[in-house]
Amino acid sequence: MAEKLTERGVQMTVEMQKAKNVELAAQLAAETRRREEAVEALEKSRAANRKKRPALPKAPKLKGDVVEVTTGDWHGNKVDPAGFSAFLADLKMIQPDRLILGGDILDCGGFLAEHHALGYVAESADSYEDDVATANGLLDQVQPLASEIHYLEGNHEWRVERWALGQKLSHAKDIELLRRTFAAEHVLGLADRGIRYYRSGETHGDSHVPGWVKFDDVWFVHRLSRSANSARAAVQSAAANVVYFDTHRADYLPVRKIGTGHIAAWNPGCLCRFQPLYCQTRPTEWTHGYLVRWISRTGKFLMINVPIINGISLGSSIFSK
Ligand SMILES: [Fe+2]
Repeated sequence: MAEKLTERGVQMTVEMQKAKNVELAAQLAAETRRREEAVEALEKSRAANRKKRPALPKAPKLKGDVVEVTTGDWHGNKVDPAGFSAFLADLKMIQPDRLILGGDILDCGGFLAEHHALGYVAESADSYEDDVATANGLLDQVQPLASEIHYLEGNHEWRVERWALGQKLSHAKDIELLRRTFAAEHVLGLADRGIRYYRSGETHGDSHVPGWVKFDDVWFVHRLSRSANSARAAVQSAAANVVYFDTHRADYLPVRKIGTGHIAAWNPGCLCRFQPLYCQTRPTEWTHGYLVRWISRTGKFLMINVPIINGISLGSSIFSK
């Protein structure tokens, strides 16, 4: 009797456990469904929130906006033929809306460079006539490749004015007549070419400082700083975006100031030969290159230095595409 009771008890326990297992399985299935529904609801909620987010602002469109090329310090008959050829090949591909010539396009050596110690016979081999003929030939080549051209007077073109003053003529009109006869704007026929010339002794546009010209939020001036850290000195002096020339050495220095935000100084380098005799035995650190700038209709722009090394432009592979 006692055995029968024990056996029945075991069976009942097993049956109860089976029933409990079925119940637990049903609960587990229900919990799994609830979890899946919760996960699905969460995904739907995230997707809905994603759709509600405002679209990101579109990147400034570059195609169709203004493209500007800046070059300077060709130095007439002291031009580096390979460097200039590389620049010209790029210019044919870029065909900028605006070309800025930053001065010293003429060398104005010889009798116009009286402050130089003409200690070498070879230095007197080039005449001003040769210098002018070379510069005219270079301008003939670039002129068809840009919609508009601006030309800032460099310290070398300015030599003509200083030379005219040095002739000790008694009347300002006669000095000006002499200056104009030999000045860049005359000997290079800039008015006939439709090239605007900015003299370094005059103010232009909004500037109260002579020789400075502004295009699309960037100032351009031939001579600003000749220090070893010229880009830093330039951007500090301008307290604005500024392109300067004169050092013949490519440079770029961006800074961020609390008053101005992001500003920078650029120098394109030169396109003349690296070792003029007036430097005598002193090795120069000059570099060849130019600047290209894409200006968006938003007013924002990208300016880059394009180096030309041993007559090969590092921008040519980009601009050929
Ligand atoms: Fe120069």
